[in-house]
Amino acid sequence: MLKKAIEDHKDLPGALMPVLHEGQKIFGALPIEVQKVVSEEMNIPMAEIYGVVTFYSQFSLEPNGDYHIGVCLGTACYVKGAQPIIDAIESSLDLAVGATSADGKFSLEATRCIGACGLAPVLTVNEDVYGRISEKDVPDILAKY
Ligand code: FES
Repeated sequence: MLKKAIEDHKDLPGALMPVLHEGQKIFGALPIEVQKVVSEEMNIPMAEIYGVVTFYSQFSLEPNGDYHIGVCLGTACYVKGAQPIIDAIESSLDLAVGATSADGKFSLEATRCIGACGLAPVLTVNEDVYGRISEKDVPDILAKY
């Protein structure tokens, strides 16, 4: 399926993004092995592909957990204490930013501004948005999932 997407887009300008989107859809993530296939088939250096995959938050290196937690690290959220929230999540779930828990339940990501600065600091769990929270709210929020 990935090879088909590559075949379809290969000769078009700006082909890399649609191919990566397709790969993310098929595999739920773009691990190095998948990037290698894209690199070889499209003749694009690995470094370039890796750069794109890690730059755009819609791509991930490993599959997200059932509950994907995003903590905004944009300026407004950072100033209002997003880092202690990340620290609290990391220590209570034993999970690093960018990782997925061993049971596949939670994954954690630090995001760019999600456009809800009025609610800073903002945390999301899948579609749920929590605003104006502090690290003290983290246990209650996580307990819901
Ligand atoms: S900086 Fe966090 S929502 Fe804008």
